[in-house]
Amino acid sequence: MNLTQQLVLGNWKSNKTLKEAEKWLDTFGANRFQVPSDVTVGIAPPFPFVLTVSSFFASHHFDTVVTGIQDMSQFPAGKYTGAVSAQNLSELSVRFAILGHSERRKYFHETHQDVANKVDQCLQNGIHPVVCVDDEYIFEQAAAIDAASLVKCVVAYEELSAIGTGDNVEPDKVATVIDTIKTAFGQVPVLYGGSVTPLNAKQYAQITDGVLVGGASLSAEKFIQIAAAFS
Ligand code: PGA
Repeated sequence: MNLTQQLVLGNWKSNKTLKEAEKWLDTFGANRFQVPSDVTVGIAPPFPFVLTVSSFFASHHFDTVVTGIQDMSQFPAGKYTGAVSAQNLSELSVRFAILGHSERRKYFHETHQDVANKVDQCLQNGIHPVVCVDDEYIFEQAAAIDAASLVKCVVAYEELSAIGTGDNVEPDKVATVIDTIKTAFGQVPVLYGGSVTPLNAKQYAQITDGVLVGGASLSAEKFIQIAAAFS
């Protein structure tokens, strides 16, 4: 995963059946030529579809298209029933992990320390951590992460009020929060996430290192249109 390129990452959350995932891949494959070669795009499907997605990308030689996950265990492999460890993922070509999404914090009570432990697991296993923060706890989240690991993170600024609401954050505010994130984490790539659509993506292309897309990534066509805005 080339962090010097802009990143357009999709998060399917817990949506889709296997057949729907395969249909998305077929549509994506057929329209892949519309994705700019200087943009890295990635999809984080639900765990059961990770191998399907990564095998599809590998078999089509989509070099700038990567597979991610939406969470991972804060523990190493072992006696942790129900957890998905880095070892489980090691042969599945997983390149990035979305960590500390606000839905994980809200519904699964994830703490800053849990997220920091997941960052460690990622970095020990060659997976890029994409740490989600709202502007209210940027410094608290950064403080929980080992100082040497901070600059190895990608950070996604995800304002709670913008997630899934259609109420995307104005670019001026995004630019200000990106500065704050760089103060806390260092010179890391910073993505914006929250109601990104093909209609508003372009305005984030100039001021961010990419976007994290939820709802609009469920449609391969919309996702490709968003990536095209970053060319
Ligand atoms: P949304 O989700 O694009 O549907 O607002 C963004 C996210 O949760 O990362």
